[in-house]
Amino acid sequence: MTKIDDVLLSKYGETSSVPSPVNRLMTDFAVGFRDGRDINLGVGYVNEQTIPHRAIQLACEQVLSHPEKYRAALNYGGAQGSPNLIASLRRFHIENRIGGITEQTLNGRDIVIGANGATSLLESVTHVLPAGIVLTADPMYYIYCNDLERKGFKVIAIPEDAEGLDTQCLKSKLAALGSERTAIRFFYVVTVNNPTCTILSNKRKRELVDIATRLSYEVGRKIPIFFDNAYSDLVHDSTVEPLASALCYDALGIVYEVGTLSKILAPGLRIGYLIGSKGAFLDSIIQRTSDIGFSAPLINQEIASYLLDHGIEAQIEKVNHGYQQKAKQVKTWMAERLGDNVQECRGGSAGFYFYFTLSNVATGTTSDFFKFLTRTTGQEDIDGPRDSQHPKVIYIPGEHCVHPEGDMIEIGKRQLRISYGFEELPQIHAALKYMREAIAYSETVR
Ligand SMILES: Cc1ncc(COP(=O)(O)O)c(C=O)c1O
Repeated sequence: MTKIDDVLLSKYGETSSVPSPVNRLMTDFAVGFRDGRDINLGVGYVNEQTIPHRAIQLACEQVLSHPEKYRAALNYGGAQGSPNLIASLRRFHIENRIGGITEQTLNGRDIVIGANGATSLLESVTHVLPAGIVLTADPMYYIYCNDLERKGFKVIAIPEDAEGLDTQCLKSKLAALGSERTAIRFFYVVTVNNPTCTILSNKRKRELVDIATRLSYEVGRKIPIFFDNAYSDLVHDSTVEPLASALCYDALGIVYEVGTLSKILAPGLRIGYLIGSKGAFLDSIIQRTSDIGFSAPLINQEIASYLLDHGIEAQIEKVNHGYQQKAKQVKTWMAERLGDNVQECRGGSAGFYFYFTLSNVATGTTSDFFKFLTRTTGQEDIDGPRDSQHPKVIYIPGEHCVHPEGDMIEIGKRQLRISYGFEELPQIHAALKYMREAIAYSETVR
């Protein structure tokens, strides 16, 4: 037999043939997951109870029974998105003055709907912009940054503090880049960061737009800055200053805001959108949506439009009330159960993650803490009998959230993200008890 090589993969194909570390972690855990026994604080799933099942059912009926407004909802849609949904989003932003947006802010700007959530729009950006440097915050949204790196972009992650991406540090890094600054393709900033849920302050947001504007003039080319607002409707702490839209600070037309209905309605609708200046860049994103699937499913877009026109404010309030209660309770339990073992903690005001640093204990996948919680210590008294192991707990280790070549690599080894979105309170309570035990175990085996 003649020897035959395997399918020839592109560079991207090659790097994508190996699952990312977080995907591997989640898949391994999901394979043996025992409902009602194991606890998943790792996934970014929204809480099932926040999804308005009945309202979605009703919206679907309304859409299908009003073809004069929702034309051919089960047919193909246009690549920019449903005109109904675009109008609803426009109204939603202007009437609620989301971030201070007015009619004037949206003049000269457009809204485009992604083929499959905000994720598809972020992914489209990687196709229509040439590879080069992307600046983001550290810890970073590992899912997108991993995608960027597989596509040949170089991610430079700038540490964040309590107000978000540290702009002083960003200025020093820019200065250190010297002539390499011309290789900067875009900024990517998550306004309520994932994994930390740190809220980017309005002051910082304005500074970031200023820095990107200055840099654009310096290199003689517009350098876009993308603000990912995935969780910006989920600020549930009333003491936080209302979040301003970065579009209001944008004189040069370089700001783009990415939004999603995943967290306030349902991830399953797969509705994400991009708002920014009309022009070649936005046109290329629309073409890309057409290339990868023509449009988001039109029926979902129409359902989303109906929901935005009927009772979205009450829905957002309900979602936030739920997360606010959970955040408060989990914070109290963290203090009780983990106490001084927590050196620093972020989150609790928005979104549904806490991101914290343990004082002395490593959290990575080879650590005793991780092994205890995933019941892989190899000791039966810890893991439980083979056929009936003790409850397992999964979280996202900080080592996957900080940039491997960034300044936070060392501290990241003692950090972790836990989600209070998906699991209910009794399970989170139990998980924190196991974490306490995992810390004690790590200290004894050290
Ligand atoms: C920062 C960030 N951006 C985007 C997304 C994805 O949004 P979508 O469901 O619209 O693809 C997520 C989901 O968790 C996220 O955390």
